Amino acid sequence: MSPAGQLIVPGVSAVRAPFNVWRIREDFPILRQTVHGKPLVYLDNAATTQKPNVVIDSLRRFYCDTCANIHRGVHELSERSTCLYEDARTSVQQFINAGDVREIIFVRGATEGINLVAQSYGRKHVGAGDEVLITAMEHHSNIVPWQILCEEKGAHLRVAPINDRGELILDEFERLLTPRTRIAAVTHVSNALGTVNPVKEMVRMAHARGIPVLVDGAQAVPHQRVDVRDLDCDFYAFSGHKVYAPSGIGALYGKLRVLDAMPPYQGGGDMIRSVSFEKTTYNDLPYKFEAGTPNISGTIALGAALSYVTEIGLDLVAAHEQELLEAATEAVSGIPGVRIIGTAAHKAAVLSFVIEGVHPHDVGTILDRQGVAIRAGHHCAQPVMERFGLAATSRASFAMYNTREEVDALAAGVRKVKEIFG
Ligand SMILES: Cc1ncc(COP(=O)(O)O)c(C=O)c1O
Repeated sequence: MSPAGQLIVPGVSAVRAPFNVWRIREDFPILRQTVHGKPLVYLDNAATTQKPNVVIDSLRRFYCDTCANIHRGVHELSERSTCLYEDARTSVQQFINAGDVREIIFVRGATEGINLVAQSYGRKHVGAGDEVLITAMEHHSNIVPWQILCEEKGAHLRVAPINDRGELILDEFERLLTPRTRIAAVTHVSNALGTVNPVKEMVRMAHARGIPVLVDGAQAVPHQRVDVRDLDCDFYAFSGHKVYAPSGIGALYGKLRVLDAMPPYQGGGDMIRSVSFEKTTYNDLPYKFEAGTPNISGTIALGAALSYVTEIGLDLVAAHEQELLEAATEAVSGIPGVRIIGTAAHKAAVLSFVIEGVHPHDVGTILDRQGVAIRAGHHCAQPVMERFGLAATSRASFAMYNTREEVDALAAGVRKVKEIFG
């Protein structure tokens, strides 16, 4: 740690530099390539982000210098590996301002974090006739785990509706918090629409009725400062790969007393205190929820990624991405026949759109020929598509390394699509 309490990554200056997108781009080797003879314009960041050198180097360093299993090791490499792994837990704790390092559970990603809560907290607390409340803008990862639970328990999945701009209808959300609601599970930022939900207010509404809240933070953590203590949510899940870390690692935050009272999720090594054929006793938090050998290198690299983002400054990242979003919205919506899907007052880094008479897959393919990588499809949010009467959209999504020139390339690509389709 620096004297100012900032996290430090080798090779990253401790003094925060002014935001310089060109300097940041130098940290991402993949961005230097051409695709179909054009410079790569990577606008598929909501699916996954590219990785900076500090993350790539962290993986390499682990396998070159440190590779050993963690916990219980008596040899030097295992001790080092354990220290680095647990340091990453502290990095996550600081990144989301959790009060206690034991509140951070390493998981494969947001999906596993949500499944953990549904299967552990949910199976204990949700019974026949009870209700689980979600919103109409959830990713499948925050729908299906609750459906599985409700089906098993004879409970009901309730869905708070959204308006035509893709904003949650807050009064309806509040109305659906009933004496039978056992948990509310809501996305912080919609991956299909970009809508930023007022999660602090939603948590307040739910808590006023004694209902815990899980926040799916997969699309929020890369784009804005998240403070779980300020939000006061009971659970917060996110994926490393969407915030410049490798895939296969993410974190679940849970309030200590809530996690403590929950049964284990998976059984195996590391999550036990003692095992006999008659009885097994479980380990303390957070290890109770970390069965088996984890993604050690990925966890350490997640720590490096969060330090890197912290070093650049999420407030500066957010401001830059808002500029890109506004410029892209203006440029793309000005093209005749283009309709933006998701026009909420508060949005983050996602521009979903449809072009009249053109299938989104064709849009994606033509843009790809221009070197512009976007996503076309239902974005694992089929109920959102249904709400807007669509099968799919084209989605451009931004990260800190994207530039105004890349927004221009996107708009030029969309105009090209229009030309081709007359
Ligand atoms: C809002 C949201 N929630 C959950 C997920 C699932 O994340 P993962 O596949 O990394 O577990 C995603 C991925 O796109 C997402 O956008």
